[in-house]
Amino acid sequence: MKKISLPVFTFATALAVVLSLPLSAHAQGADLFKAKCAACHGADGTGSAMGKKMGAHDFTTADVQKMSDAELTDVITNGKNKMPKYPTLKPEEVKGLVTYIRSLKK
Ligand code: HEC
Repeated sequence: MKKISLPVFTFATALAVVLSLPLSAHAQGADLFKAKCAACHGADGTGSAMGKKMGAHDFTTADVQKMSDAELTDVITNGKNKMPKYPTLKPEEVKGLVTYIRSLKK
């Protein structure tokens, strides 16, 4: 019994981890976005009143979606004008944020 159930269990666990990876990157990005970015960019990415006044663009539009992942990563990591820089975010966290921004595309 044990000889069969262990590999089955291992396989099922590995499968569950692989299947949950893209989802968790997205969920993590959404949580981070709400915590650190929504004050200016709005929970839906269209921009809060304050963020728009500072010059933030609507993430759902082509203006932002046409930016490459590298450009989005650069703005998040290094900032731009009134956009603060976030040099302490881990690369996976920035990736999660970029994934989240992509998911806002209309
Ligand atoms: C204090 C307000 C503020 C906060 C907080 C903030 N941003 Fe911004 N962000 C801006 C402004 C203003 C711009 C526009 C910069 C420019 O082009 O002059 C901007 C630009 C951007 C851009 C480029 C697209 C655009 O609108 O020009 C991305 C991507 C972005 N921010 C992501 C984020 C992420 C991700 C976070 C959270 C980790 C975040 N921002 C937090 C104000 C903010």
